[in-house]
Amino acid sequence: MADIIDGKAVSQRLKDELKEEVAGLKAQGKEAVLAVIQVGNDPASSVYVGNKKKACAYIGIGSESYELPEETTQEELLALIDRLNEDDKITGILCQLPVPGHIDEDTIIRRISPLKDVDGFHPMSVGALCIGEKGFVSCTPAGIMKLLEYSDIDVEGKECVVVGRSNIVGKPMALLLLRANGTVTVCHSRTKNLQEVCRRADILVVAVGKPKMITEEYVKDGAVVIDVGIHRMDNGKLCGDVDYDRVAPKCSAITPVPGGVGPMTIAMLMYNCVNAIR
Ligand code: GUN
Repeated sequence: MADIIDGKAVSQRLKDELKEEVAGLKAQGKEAVLAVIQVGNDPASSVYVGNKKKACAYIGIGSESYELPEETTQEELLALIDRLNEDDKITGILCQLPVPGHIDEDTIIRRISPLKDVDGFHPMSVGALCIGEKGFVSCTPAGIMKLLEYSDIDVEGKECVVVGRSNIVGKPMALLLLRANGTVTVCHSRTKNLQEVCRRADILVVAVGKPKMITEEYVKDGAVVIDVGIHRMDNGKLCGDVDYDRVAPKCSAITPVPGGVGPMTIAMLMYNCVNAIR
């Protein structure tokens, strides 16, 4: 039976390590303050933002909330970001996505200073990752690398298959696995013979956004399976992109949903917030 990779436990360990480090940095007069912007009141976004602020409080990172009404204009949002970019007290800026349809997401992402881009979404951050320079790394894929590291799963020389090519998860995930000397294949909706390609994987990372799409036919015996998806089923329970009950018996290790990748995303946001003042 597979080892269950406990994202909750790893994220708690990481947050406790960060808490200690933040106390040390405070003693040297260095303080992290995260500005959290939410436009509108999408209930899911409110939950995420609430959890991010709670994590800041736990670790000792300051947080400032900017809850803007749905009808906020793009110009008003850009003016706020400009102000926060210039404010030396603010060390990280996060604008919760999605923003309302009349605001262009890319314009917002590009306006946040790369020095305060704790989400790692700015093209400068992505470019730095691409060429192996220092910079903020998108939290979910960075969290997956931490999970692999804490689980003693070595990436070097392994066949790694990433299913999904989003800017936030799939692409940075592929770059991080490559940086760790994996042999990386990225699959997407146009990939032919997806099952066959996935079955090559020693490490399979799935971020497709389709409930239980990955069944045992996609998985090689003994593979490590990382599930980024999270979906609410009709019965109220959560599930991932991987059909856990069918896939787990074949794996050497697997992340559950909930309690796998999810908790790592916020822990890595906190890591990035601390990195901003290191
Ligand atoms: N919306 C969903 N996930 C994220 C995230 O990691 N960062 C931001 N800013 N918005 C999100």
